Amino acid sequence: MYLFEAMYTIGYVAPLENTGRWAERLPASFGVKRLDAEALDGGAVAGCDAVLLPYKSEVSPQALVRRIRLDAGDVPILVTDVPCDSHLSASLFRAGVNDICCDSDDPEQFSDRLLHHIEKYRLRERQKQMEADLSLEVGNKTRHLENALTLLNRAYEDTLESLVVALDAREHATGAHSKRVALYTMFLSILAGVLPEKWQSIYRGSLLHDFGKIAIPDAILLKPGKLTTEEFEVIKTHTVHGMQILGQVEFLKDSAAIPRWHHEKFNGKGYPDGLAGEAIPLESRIFAIIDVYDALRTKRPYKEPLPHAECVKIIVADRGEHFDPALVDLFVGVPENAWDQLWESAGEARGYAAILDVSLDAAYRYRSERG
Ligand SMILES: [Fe+2]
Repeated sequence: MYLFEAMYTIGYVAPLENTGRWAERLPASFGVKRLDAEALDGGAVAGCDAVLLPYKSEVSPQALVRRIRLDAGDVPILVTDVPCDSHLSASLFRAGVNDICCDSDDPEQFSDRLLHHIEKYRLRERQKQMEADLSLEVGNKTRHLENALTLLNRAYEDTLESLVVALDAREHATGAHSKRVALYTMFLSILAGVLPEKWQSIYRGSLLHDFGKIAIPDAILLKPGKLTTEEFEVIKTHTVHGMQILGQVEFLKDSAAIPRWHHEKFNGKGYPDGLAGEAIPLESRIFAIIDVYDALRTKRPYKEPLPHAECVKIIVADRGEHFDPALVDLFVGVPENAWDQLWESAGEARGYAAILDVSLDAAYRYRSERG
């Protein structure tokens, strides 16, 4: 029997007649639906606000409860006709039933308790639905925000790269130095074991290492001949200018170590602060090797490019003086073809994500080849 005008639908498990008896005692506001004990799967309990399950010593209530739960989640399950036995009651509650009722229970009280369980169940279901709706809404909003941030981040990256290309072009003929050193530095940083949370700031710091040169007059920066001592002092200030400029931009604040300290030397004779050894931030020590390597390998208005082996010799000669000896050893262990592949990739890779992909691939290849 299924009363469509009823406010609640109670499933009672048949053919065990006892539950039918309890179901028939319910007021008219409860519609009843007969459930087959052998066919509780497959949505049989769907639409029920509660299930009445008769206690039978030969039937395991745990197994029936499990099947109902699989089908109908948290629907209230009330076991009827339970003998008065506190151990049995405890084991039924442990099995996950919501309530039990004995033969001696008052039918009116039973329907009140049933109603109480149904209301609690409906409230929980409404809360779950609201939480699911909210979670969906938050998920959608988060996705939109992530997309917006990705676009914004991409715009930042594009702006930085365009700016750096223009700055490179001012000083060098190729205009690709900064992007190349950013890639090399990322690669060597990964090999050196720098933690991933620092990679993006290292990329940006490398890309913007000479950003402070924007404050250096053309007459000094582009002077073809030898610089005077005073002029060189002015050039040196590009490190401090770089840090000051980046320090004013929220998303670049963490990237200022390379611009400020990329001309420090391991022996303490560099500038602007004369830091020595590990007082120089690791990323700045890594970058110092890369910056010199790329300058040696590329053609400049005042010099021809040098072969890789020559560049390595020059860098090794400064091991422990200009450069961190451990990092020189790491650098020297990377074969020429790995640097050449990075050189080619630097032309195509655009933005941090692309540079990171290339760096990780190269680091993975290098480690695989070394076993
Ligand atoms: Fe510099």
